[in-house]
Amino acid sequence: MAKKLIIANWKTAPDSLAEAETIINTVDELLASLGEQEKFSLIICPPFVFIEEVARMLGSGHLAQSALLGAQDIAPLDTSALTGEVSGSMLVKLGVRYVIVGHSERRWKLGESDEVVNKKLRLALDHKLTPIVCIGEHIREGRWHEEIVTQVQATFAGIPAVDIDRCLIAYEPIWAISTASGAYPDTPVSALQSIKIIRETLNGLGAIAPRFLYGGSVTESNASKFLAVPEFSGVLIGGPSVRREEFLKILTDAIFLAR
Ligand code: PGA
Repeated sequence: MAKKLIIANWKTAPDSLAEAETIINTVDELLASLGEQEKFSLIICPPFVFIEEVARMLGSGHLAQSALLGAQDIAPLDTSALTGEVSGSMLVKLGVRYVIVGHSERRWKLGESDEVVNKKLRLALDHKLTPIVCIGEHIREGRWHEEIVTQVQATFAGIPAVDIDRCLIAYEPIWAISTASGAYPDTPVSALQSIKIIRETLNGLGAIAPRFLYGGSVTESNASKFLAVPEFSGVLIGGPSVRREEFLKILTDAIFLAR
């Protein structure tokens, strides 16, 4: 089985650098105790305030071989005059390799338009970062397929097919994200139906082999079900990725699944 990607989207947690260090040390100890470093790739996307320190922490120990750094966002313009933003070149200098683009919390809670997401995506690609592009519908009812198709077309508008194939596409139904009221996870079977729609739309834009992740209420009780499906290159984990015990259980399952 191909090595799976486990992406930890820490969002606006943890509260302190000391807690971030504890999470990272715990993961490192797990890898040391199991003697396994090569079974999955872990991508940690900390809040910007911790990114430099986390980069340093990931540079040593067992994590140095299996963990890479991701960012949760990227500035939509390459300029040194954009107050509050963090540019692609800054991310690259910090050792960031992946960047989340179009997360639903930015699209829908902060009003980030498809046009802005598209600009961020272009800049991520220009900076040779691997974009983790989030796509998902509000509710699985009515014309939800159309919502997905429109979102995919607008997000990837004008992006060359070869670049679309460099992206990781995270199918994250908004209703499944743990912060949504009454959120519950999708199932692998149903998520595969959505992925089929996304894949067909991307094929229509010329992409040949886009890679997919699942995200939205991935927990220790369902992560291995998604990781076992060949069509998913991995999972995108929010809340549980800063809850040490849960996160360790997910990583342990991923290691055993890959054995
Ligand atoms: P969740 O978040 O795992 O807490 O549902 C996933 C995400 O928002 O990327």
